[in-house]
Amino acid sequence: MPDIKHYTELGLVNTKDMFKKAMAGGYAIPAYNFNNMEQLQGIIVGCAQSKSPVILQVSGSARKYADPVFLPYMANGAVQMVKALDADIPIALHLDHGNNFELAKSCIDSGFSSVMLDGSHHPFEENAALTKQVVEYAHEREVSVEGELGVLAGVEDEVSHEVSHYTEPEEVEEFVAKTGVDSLAISIGTSHGAYKFKVKPGEEVPPLRFDILEEIEKRVPGFPIVLHGASSIEPEYVKMINAFGGKMDDAVGIPESQLRKAAGSAVCKINIDSDGRLAITAVIRKIFAENPAEFDPRKYLGPAREELIQMVKRKNERVLGSAGKA
Ligand code: G3H
Ligand code: 13P
Ligand code: ZN
Repeated sequence: MPDIKHYTELGLVNTKDMFKKAMAGGYAIPAYNFNNMEQLQGIIVGCAQSKSPVILQVSGSARKYADPVFLPYMANGAVQMVKALDADIPIALHLDHGNNFELAKSCIDSGFSSVMLDGSHHPFEENAALTKQVVEYAHEREVSVEGELGVLAGVEDEVSHEVSHYTEPEEVEEFVAKTGVDSLAISIGTSHGAYKFKVKPGEEVPPLRFDILEEIEKRVPGFPIVLHGASSIEPEYVKMINAFGGKMDDAVGIPESQLRKAAGSAVCKINIDSDGRLAITAVIRKIFAENPAEFDPRKYLGPAREELIQMVKRKNERVLGSAGKA
C-alpha cells in the first residue's frame, strides 16, 4: 500500500467545513464518481472553473479498477492541477458505498479523507454497530463518515435491490446518536443507475418524498443529509447515445427542479455518477460513428473529458448551487 500517513499529506480535506457552509448557504456539495484520469480531470477542472468545493468519490470496485496504490496519487494529482490552474477549492476523497470495516480502514490508511459505510441492507442494530466501528477508527484520524438508512432501488456497487425502502424518520435520531456519523444518506425516491422510473412517454416521474425529508430535518436539525442516485439522466445525452448506435430508450432520471429543491434543504451532498458516464459515452459514440477509422484515444477521450467539464460546470451552477462557494 502507498506510504501515506494522512490525507492532509495529499492536500485533501475532510467534509466537515464543506457541510457546515453548505448547510448555512442552502446549497449542496457535488460528489462526482470517477474511475479514470479523464473523468477525474473533467470533474476537477469543471469544479475549479466554477469555483466549487468538490467530493471526489470512488466505489470499492472503482478503487480496484484504478488500483488502490495508484488512486491516492491521482487525487493528489488533482490537487496539484487545481493549484496550477490558480484555483483554490477544497477537495475531499471519499469511499462510496463501503460495505465493511476492512475496506473503510484500508481507504483511511491510504489517504481518503471521508468514507461511507453502507450497512443499509443490514438490520438496524447491525448497521449501527458496523457504522460505529468505522466512525471510531475514522474520527481518531479526523476522517468524515457517511452512514445510510433506508434502501435505494437499483445497483450499488454490485448489490442490487428491486424496490426502495424509504428511510423511517423515527430511526434517524437513534442511528445518528448511536453511531456518531457525520452525515446520513437517506432513501426518498431516488435510485442508482440510468433507469430510475418506469414511465410512459410524456408522463411525469413521481416526485421525491420531501415529506420524509422534512420529517428527518425536524428530528435532527442542522444534520447533513446525503442524496444518492441523483443523476438527472440528461435527455440530450440519451438522445445522442441512441442516435449513434446505443440503446438506452427507457433511461430516465431525477428532474433538476427536484434536486435544486433538495439542495436548498438539509441535503448537503448530492451524488452523481451516471450523468458523467452518459456524457462521456455520448461523445465517444458520436466520434466513433462519424470517424470509424479513428484509433487515437486522445481524439475521443479528449472531447469526452471536455464534455464532462461543461456538464460539471452546468450542474454546479444550475443544480447544486455550489458554484462560487469555494
Ligand atoms: O452507487 C454506485 C456508484 O454509481 C458506483 O458504481 O460500483 O459501478 O463503481 P460502481
Ligand atoms: P447515479 O447513478 O444517479 O448517478 O447515483 C450515483 C450514486 O449515488 C453514487 O453513490
Ligand atoms: Zn450511491
